[in-house]
Amino acid sequence: MVSDFASMNTLKENAPRHVAVIMDGNGRWAKKRGLPRSAGHKQGIEAVRRTVKAAAEFGVEYLTLFSFSSENWSRPESEIKELMRLLRYYLKSETAEFHRGNVSLKVIGNREQLDDDIVKLIENAETLTKDNTGLTLIIALNYGARQEILQAVSSICSTYLAKGVVPDELEVETVFPDHLSTGRMPDPDLLIRTSGEKRISNFLLWQCAYAEFFFSDVLWPDFTKRDFEEALLDYTNRERRFGSLSESQR
Ligand code: IPE
Ligand code: IPE
Ligand code: MG
Repeated sequence: MVSDFASMNTLKENAPRHVAVIMDGNGRWAKKRGLPRSAGHKQGIEAVRRTVKAAAEFGVEYLTLFSFSSENWSRPESEIKELMRLLRYYLKSETAEFHRGNVSLKVIGNREQLDDDIVKLIENAETLTKDNTGLTLIIALNYGARQEILQAVSSICSTYLAKGVVPDELEVETVFPDHLSTGRMPDPDLLIRTSGEKRISNFLLWQCAYAEFFFSDVLWPDFTKRDFEEALLDYTNRERRFGSLSESQR
């Protein structure tokens, strides 16, 4: 299929800088096999490993993975426990590997509800890998975009209140990204969602204003390097207009 020389070159030249992924379908993957949902989450880690490796190989600069949403706390406690256990395992087993691979890890989302040992693991991984210059891997954990936007608004208000001035709209627009957890990193160019669901589920609402969307029917644990490559190649054929007109329309 796509892994020929020409398509590799197309990808190298036109790969999206920032790819965000809603990794969905772990539960259905397990159900199809008569296994508990936790088995799907466990297998999902293999797809994470494959995707991180593939992103670096294809020259993607930023990869954001949605691993746990603010709304996922409403799942059964046993499932949440298992997800946190897997997260611990992943951070412990992968941190040194990231460092060896020149990957810089960042975690976005609210850390207040996370167990202290998980916060420590995150901080250690971020500190160890902060100067790495290869792929930036962003894990969205206990992340919700509406909450992030509200926090940004609140933080901007406090900043200006402390100064005793009212900012104008243009100024707010300029400083707004600094108050988001994604800071000054580029917005996602491509958003992939697996498992056939076609919604954004409170993920990067501000940042995805002009992202290209790619929906795959593959369940996340089955997602391969080829599936990722297919999404990237599809992206290279998109025409991004950002509200303007293309040359042929003028
Ligand atoms: C994605 O898979 C993982 C998380 C949301 C943590 P799901 O657990 O949502 O799997 P489905 O959607 O039930 O198949
Ligand atoms: C979105 O998937 C969150 C993650 C992939 C972490 P969900 O499975 O939670 O989303 P909904 O509930 O189907 O919208
Ligand atoms: Mg789901």
